[in-house]
Amino acid sequence: MTKVAPSILSADFVNLERDIRALGPQGADYVHVDVMDGNFVPNISLGLPVVAAIKRISPLPLDVHLMIERPIRYVEDFCRAGADILTVHVEADTAANTRAALEKIRALGVRPALSIKPYTRAEAVLPFLELCGLILVMTVEPGFGGQGFMDDMMPKLKAIRGWIEERNPACELEVDGGINERTARICRENGANVLVAGSAWFKNPDPAAFCRALKA
Ligand code: DX5
Ligand code: ZN
Repeated sequence: MTKVAPSILSADFVNLERDIRALGPQGADYVHVDVMDGNFVPNISLGLPVVAAIKRISPLPLDVHLMIERPIRYVEDFCRAGADILTVHVEADTAANTRAALEKIRALGVRPALSIKPYTRAEAVLPFLELCGLILVMTVEPGFGGQGFMDDMMPKLKAIRGWIEERNPACELEVDGGINERTARICRENGANVLVAGSAWFKNPDPAAFCRALKA
């Protein structure tokens, strides 16, 4: 069963509560929240107070994607702010700190997740696979919504799906970047079961129909 996680990076921030409350009835499964620090990626989005505010009104689990340097410094704060899934990037710190961050997230009762950027090899997730409840494969360079989908990430996605089946079958496999009806199907065929959609979701005049198409 495919899940859909709309990225609120493309929501109307003036009407964020309205946009978030609409997601459940439209068929979404998670709310994807992109946190950017201006260092790990060349953009700044939103931080802890906004995550805590969203938590107060969201009926759906929060899928918080940290695009920040050395995320271990902040994982406890984001867990306490209300993340249900908390994703760190494998490129954002040393292997020891990445492992420690994932373990800390789990100890706080939150689902630990690991993301890899397009130019990071698939094998980078292997040392952490058993620690994760979700792996996020970026299908654009992180930092901005509205970019074109990178088809050449599909061999990586497929390889990671194979390792998940062997070593941690409960782990979910998510894709993020450039997802629309066409690219969703390619991602599902290559093993993704959670699809993040930002601009295509919030630009669509009929998000419920779009959501059904992503899952079809
Ligand atoms: C990009 C973010 C994405 C972004 C996706 O760094 O991680 O979640 O919002 O936006 P679209 O779906 O427009 O590519
Ligand atoms: Zn994201």
